[in-house]
Amino acid sequence: MDKTNTYNYTVVRQFALMTVVWGIVGMLVGVVIAAQLRWPELNFNIPWLTYGRLRPLHTNAVIFAFGGSALFASSYYVVQRTCHARLFAGGLAAFTFWGWQAVIVLAAVTLPLGYTTGKEYAELEWPIDILITLVWVAYAVVFFGTIAKRRTPHIYVANWFFGAFILTIALLHLVNSAEVPVTFWKSYSAYAGVQDAMVQWWYGHNAVGFFLTAGFLGMMYYFIPKQAGRPVYSYRLSVVHFWALIFTYMWAGPHHLHYTALPDWAQSIGMVFSLILLAPSWGGMINGMMTLSGAWHKLRQDPILKFLIVSLSFYGMSTFEGPMMSIKTVNALSHYTDWTIGHVHSGALGWVGLVTMGSIYYLIPRLFGRTEMHSVPLINTHFWMATIGIVLYIASMWIAGVMQGLMWRAVSDDGTLTYTFVEGVKATYPFYTIRLLGGLLYLSGMLVMAYNVWKTVAGRQAVNATIPAVAPAHA
Ligand code: HEM
Ligand code: HEM
Repeated sequence: MDKTNTYNYTVVRQFALMTVVWGIVGMLVGVVIAAQLRWPELNFNIPWLTYGRLRPLHTNAVIFAFGGSALFASSYYVVQRTCHARLFAGGLAAFTFWGWQAVIVLAAVTLPLGYTTGKEYAELEWPIDILITLVWVAYAVVFFGTIAKRRTPHIYVANWFFGAFILTIALLHLVNSAEVPVTFWKSYSAYAGVQDAMVQWWYGHNAVGFFLTAGFLGMMYYFIPKQAGRPVYSYRLSVVHFWALIFTYMWAGPHHLHYTALPDWAQSIGMVFSLILLAPSWGGMINGMMTLSGAWHKLRQDPILKFLIVSLSFYGMSTFEGPMMSIKTVNALSHYTDWTIGHVHSGALGWVGLVTMGSIYYLIPRLFGRTEMHSVPLINTHFWMATIGIVLYIASMWIAGVMQGLMWRAVSDDGTLTYTFVEGVKATYPFYTIRLLGGLLYLSGMLVMAYNVWKTVAGRQAVNATIPAVAPAHA
């Protein structure tokens, strides 16, 4: 195979297929912990099956294995296609694939064994942190190296978002994972007390902003125009909301620490910046949606476009809900309740999940020399299973959350609490059952996808498209 005039699709293919595999694994663990919340005895008294150990396994698997593989696959594809250049340093790109898979496997082993730093979304212990750093530096070299050797005059907007995601995650990881090792599998954070909390949630919120948002906006900016066959609605809007998003996200972390030992003024800064964040977030949503102007009819027939556009509506919903939840008085009700879990999954299942699935459905046939997926009706089936699953999940968690908040704060005339905690738990059980059904439906949709992907790629030749000989004036 001629490597000089073809794109490097090998690593894209590997990451794209692993996205489906890790999606199923991570969501299966999600379904298990959802069932454990309803029937706690499902841990069978086996330590490594307990909720406390499986929950971080779920979050790590869905965010970093499923979401991460999707981001690697799409960024490597998009940067090559929009730069008209083969991926820089193919060997390093291969290292990012195997290195990232090694990180995931190590996480899948160490978390159930109970090895954890205890910092949410940064639970992995220091030797794995070092491996993550190596993979990430290699990723940056490959990505920015490809940008540097581009044959197009400008850098397409999707790459701005991917680039910001790569740089910021490097910064977040280095600062938040600073730790003092005491043994091979135990370390302590370099920070203490409220500073530790502050750094942790500066990291945590920006992980949402850059891992779960900026990178996926990069995906959105390539795959929606492509699938709709329309140019991006407004480049000016994309530039404005890009810089506003980057600037604002950095300050919003303290909304995770309302009513804690964090100084009140810092909490207020977090709240104000979260409210401002609504505008750049909606800038992205509007730009994506309006790209369909003149092509709305395609939404009726094209299930891939359905995935991509409905994901944007969930993005809009969760970025409206987030600023509302950051208002201190609202947070006094929502914090610690399942409302937060509903918010998380409207972003995670609705935005991150659907945009990923749409993009993978776009990619798979092209990576294996086919014009479309094995079965388009099955994509449609998946779309409806996923959407109904999300609605069951988030609606049940919203109701449960508001109910819990109200029950916990209810005070009787004599000044005592109206409800005991366990009464709140009992009242939540029906909603946990509905959430479990929603989760099962969403996971089953992924199995339909896996079947469809299998039928599309089985027995097919891997294909690497040719790079156009003459670079165009526009990307
Ligand atoms: C079948 C699909 C899924 C099911 C059934 C599921 C279920 C769950 C459950 C039961 C929890 C624990 C909630 C609690 O502690 O009360 C959880 C937490 C979480 N899940 Fe999922 N999940 C699914 C998919 C996903 C996906 C695709 C993502 C991300 C892309 C995700 C991200 C998270 C995060 C970030 C948390 C932690 C939330 C927090 O601490 O506030 N989940 N999930
Ligand atoms: C403008 C955008 C957003 C704002 C201002 C925002 C704000 C918030 C607030 C106030 C909380 C509750 C904090 C607490 O009470 O502990 C929260 C939790 C969370 N949000 Fe958002 N949110 C936004 C968008 C999103 C999106 C798009 C996603 C996912 C893709 C997301 C994922 C999460 C997660 C994972 C948590 C739970 C963190 C934890 O406690 O473990 N958020 N967000």
